[in-house]
Amino acid sequence: MDNGMAAIRAMAAQAVEKLVVAPDLAGSVDVVAAFARAIPERVICGLIGVPNKDMPLLRDWSASVSTILDTGYDDAFGTKPNAVDEMSAYFIDHLRGLLAHGLMPPLLGGLPALVETLGLTTAGRNIALLAFAGHETTVHLIGNMLFHLANQPALWSALRADRRLVPGAVAETLRLESPVQKICRWPLERMSIGDCEVERDESIVLHVGAANRDPDRFADPSRFDLHRGSRQNLAFGRGAHVCIGRALAEMEGTMVLNAALDRWTTIEPVAAIWADNSSMRGLKALTLRLVP
Ligand code: HEM
Repeated sequence: MDNGMAAIRAMAAQAVEKLVVAPDLAGSVDVVAAFARAIPERVICGLIGVPNKDMPLLRDWSASVSTILDTGYDDAFGTKPNAVDEMSAYFIDHLRGLLAHGLMPPLLGGLPALVETLGLTTAGRNIALLAFAGHETTVHLIGNMLFHLANQPALWSALRADRRLVPGAVAETLRLESPVQKICRWPLERMSIGDCEVERDESIVLHVGAANRDPDRFADPSRFDLHRGSRQNLAFGRGAHVCIGRALAEMEGTMVLNAALDRWTTIEPVAAIWADNSSMRGLKALTLRLVP
């Protein structure tokens, strides 16, 4: 493992230790508030050098960006400055500070070259996207996974008995409860997809969540199956814009699940509040009874 990957792994392990292993978590706990949100936040902030004191800003911006992805960018804020503008301005300043000090955080080793090529403004906007994409999705992976495992105690027992099943639980959550539900494209020229003619600039919405439950591809698609194997699903997209953070997201999901399996003999569902969002599939709150 190279040094970069080792640093990333260490940062994720530290967050899991601080938020799942060390605290006295037992009885009824909202696991989204306790650790499913905070772990990916801490990890992405550490990886791009955002100080802990600014994490609440990231949390507010991410909530707004999720709303924008649901309702449409244009009418979410009218003419007022919106979260994307604020977030971009923050990251442009942040990058300026990093370049001035010359000390790069683990994910931004290539920052000087990036700024040289794209300019500070475009680089700042891209790192704002990375800050959002690099944690909001993983929050939902962790929450959605614990939701399913809490509701099917036999799966929890199977995982406790055989940790080789853990990657299957992570993959199956990504398929069955895909955190990213929609991918949008605007074709550069007229084209046909199957029987469908699409005009230039017409918006195309790809429903990842539906594709991942396609019965022609996945037998009994609504079943959470730890043994489904590695048949590829579309949770991380495909092609030129395929997710660059897949390895990190899977690493965080695996670490959290292993730590939770170590700590709690059973997890029982108490209450779940799903976010009402057409783009992102995830839980606003998930209260479980955690039994050590
Ligand atoms: C469970 C977690 C995650 C899921 C489900 C997910 C899903 C996706 C999907 C579906 C896309 C493709 C979007 C498209 O084609 O338009 C994407 C792109 C992207 N993801 Fe992720 N992602 C996750 C975690 C992460 C993490 C941890 C990072 C960064 C550390 C990240 C960074 C990005 C970036 C920067 C892109 C844009 C790539 C491009 O446009 O070329 N993602 N992700």
